[in-house]
Amino acid sequence: MAIDPQLKERLRNEKAESLIMDADSAALLIKDGMAVGISGFTNAGYPKVVTHALAEQAKAGRAVKIDLYSGASVGPEVDTELTEAGVIRKRIPYQTNASLRKSINAGNVDYIDMHLGRSPEFISGGHVNKPDVALVEALAITEDGNLIPTTSVGNTPTYVAEADTVIVEVAMAKPLALEGMADIYMQEKPPCRKPIPITHAGDRIGTPYIKCGWDKIKAIVISDKTDLTRPLAAISEDSKKIGQNIIKFLENEVASGRMGKSLLPIQSGVGSVANAVLYGLRDSEFENLTCYTEVIQDSMLDLVKCGKASVASCTALAPSPEAQEAFFNDIDFYKDHIIFRPQEISNSIEVAHRLGLIAMNTALEVDIYGNVNSTHVQGKKMMNGIGGSGDFSRSASLVIFTTSSIAKDGDISSIVPMCPHVDHTEHEVMVIVTEQGYADLRGLSPKERAVKIIENCAHPDYREKLMDYFNRACEQMPCQTPHLLDEALSWHSKFEKTGSMK
Ligand code: COA
Repeated sequence: MAIDPQLKERLRNEKAESLIMDADSAALLIKDGMAVGISGFTNAGYPKVVTHALAEQAKAGRAVKIDLYSGASVGPEVDTELTEAGVIRKRIPYQTNASLRKSINAGNVDYIDMHLGRSPEFISGGHVNKPDVALVEALAITEDGNLIPTTSVGNTPTYVAEADTVIVEVAMAKPLALEGMADIYMQEKPPCRKPIPITHAGDRIGTPYIKCGWDKIKAIVISDKTDLTRPLAAISEDSKKIGQNIIKFLENEVASGRMGKSLLPIQSGVGSVANAVLYGLRDSEFENLTCYTEVIQDSMLDLVKCGKASVASCTALAPSPEAQEAFFNDIDFYKDHIIFRPQEISNSIEVAHRLGLIAMNTALEVDIYGNVNSTHVQGKKMMNGIGGSGDFSRSASLVIFTTSSIAKDGDISSIVPMCPHVDHTEHEVMVIVTEQGYADLRGLSPKERAVKIIENCAHPDYREKLMDYFNRACEQMPCQTPHLLDEALSWHSKFEKTGSMK
């Protein structure tokens, strides 16, 4: 079969010709018991047609179970379909998918919830099964057999480096103009690792392609599918207030001389609060902002487009369908301002520390001393995972966690006496923000922190009860961090028994 002339721009060597096959044939290269590393980070740049074919084969009776590694969460063509077909044995390093979450919490899928920036080192270090296959969505394959990433980079460079077999899905629906936005830099393994030469969020230090080579590529599948981007959720009233409280806090930082008007480079989680904060920054007095973050959403594109932010470095672009279309129509502008990096670099603790980021992430709950639970509902059930929050919480200059003060229509207080699971400790958490206000914990002892968190952040329905717990703990157990052990988790057990913490 001769390569279609339209494909020639994307398949730049005649060697590609004999490797083109349909998704079904490519899926058969993935054998039972293998570890498969896929491209993708959020609903961006993940493979779609080969995973779909694999799920269909499993549903039709093919016995195939795999360890599935990705950059982070990926689209439903992967996590929903493969979970429901019973294909996933182990999942690394992050997910946000309802079907998969259910299977993880039912004990049907083993899940390793990992710091995203550390996950490539963990996988290439041989702590889990080495990826047998790398399944990669690419814009194009260069003459030398290297891969041009699409809308995310994630862990793809690591999976391609580690696997002997690479299957490429060529994404015809994504504009070739994206080529050049990625900056691929791979670290050596210890003890040969060198400093990552990034001193500004906009520095380019690598290549626009992922190194692969024709010897590894065993299948090329032509795909007309694009990312299943999600519509932008309306920003809730609570999120708006949290956003306003963060802006107020940052204005105070500038007024007190701790930061200039350009702030420090911004890292922001995703979702409603993140969008509220970033839209708030657009209308603020801050100027010439820079962003060094994991995922770019609509609000960050907006900051760049209106000139408030000069550069945004990330590992993935996960906009709404409308924002994606606008981005694709204006790629030449964004190319000068946006960089896609491997998640080892976007989430590097070394770079985050050097740049001195402002890290803003979301908690499920926070205890009165400032410990944060981001992952385990009631200390037991996995929600999503720690994602990149831990990469930044130990390395950023300013570490902010946000949460609504209540959940489940007020039956849960997100400020609790003790968290039954802790992801981020009192030693690194600096500022807690809810819709009620913010608590700046820097320089405060545990007892001083408790008063600030309860007074400034707890919901009025729970404030008195929290203060009563704290006062009795101080009276009965006067020590560094007073707790009544029989009572500390009673709020959670009450919720489990009665459906309310009230
Ligand atoms: N106890 C139990 N459930 C809680 C809760 C609590 N204290 N607080 C919130 N929830 C529930 C909400 O009711 C909601 O449930 P639903 O899906 O049934 O409606 C769900 O958790 C999500 O909460 P929501 O308020 O909508 O917040 P969110 O979408 O911003 O998600 C996290 C919050 C913590 C789950 C999410 O930010 C996350 O996974 N964080 C960890 C990873 C991370 O920080 N990534 C960014 C790093 S770069």
